[in-house]
Amino acid sequence: MVKKVDEIRKKFKDEFNKISSLKELEDLRIRYLGKKGEITNLLKKIKEVAPEDRKAFGQAVNTLKVEIQNLIKEAREKLEKKEKSRKFDLTLPGKPLIAGKKHPLIKVMEELVEIAVGLGFEIVDGPEIEWEYYNFEALNIPEYHPSRDMWSTLFITDKMLLRTHTSPVQIRTMENRKPPLKVFHPGRVYRKDPFDASHAPAFFQAEGLYVDKNVSFADLKATLEMFTRELFGPQTRIRFLPSYFPFTEPSTEVLVNWGEGWLEILGAGMVHPKVFEAVGYDPEEWTGYAFGLGPDRIAMIKYGIDDIRLFYENDLRFIKEL
Ligand code: DAH
Repeated sequence: MVKKVDEIRKKFKDEFNKISSLKELEDLRIRYLGKKGEITNLLKKIKEVAPEDRKAFGQAVNTLKVEIQNLIKEAREKLEKKEKSRKFDLTLPGKPLIAGKKHPLIKVMEELVEIAVGLGFEIVDGPEIEWEYYNFEALNIPEYHPSRDMWSTLFITDKMLLRTHTSPVQIRTMENRKPPLKVFHPGRVYRKDPFDASHAPAFFQAEGLYVDKNVSFADLKATLEMFTRELFGPQTRIRFLPSYFPFTEPSTEVLVNWGEGWLEILGAGMVHPKVFEAVGYDPEEWTGYAFGLGPDRIAMIKYGIDDIRLFYENDLRFIKEL
């Protein structure tokens, strides 16, 4: 009977050596290890074996079974590798590597930072999830103040929100430092705005703040003039329009000449005494200016884009063009 086991072994090896595909291997496996396979058949024959030989017979069948299992496993791994590598035609030309490119908004943000640093501003940071206090109260926008209507806010809790502007970083910075200071903060802000050609619910802003003794509106004008010339070129002209912001007095909007007309790119003004009081600076002693830039607008002007949504749709054809 043990001879029978050797016969099956030999038969298996002959068939095994002819295998050339995963499919054939699987068929072979079923023929030998399957429910009605050769190994099961052998085990059934144990009844015909003399009782004293049954143990040896059983062991011989088991050894063969393990042998077959191992051979099939090894062969399967080899065949799988082979079939995978066959999918690569090494004679085909390679795929061209696509070199990455910076997003136009990131380029503008980096440029703003570079200009600000060149003008002596220090870069500071602040959180995008903000307390109502920093976003509104401390900036002289009390709860009943009508100017809160200017921002349709995305609240997270009663007192926390996604900041609607980068101005709260003014408060955070002044709370933590003694004047004089000259800081710049590039960041992201959120408003409950529709997503249309000129609005996005999340967009960029950059905030500048200078506090010192005897800072004047002329300093602000000169700084913004230098800033915009660096940004758009030496022939750039800017226009100051009287405006209103609760945290500056007087306040102004700044427009740059663009094509036929003028486009607003920033708000600015002299820091309001109430803001100084909120952070414990004496408004009799300290003066300052602040400004907030709109990088999305700036990028639209620089790259001649008329729909802000293009910046956020991640269409590679658009990014590649710029
Ligand atoms: N925070 C204002 C906004 O989001 C922009 C702004 C205006 C910032 C005047 C300033 C400023 O620092 O002085 O519309």
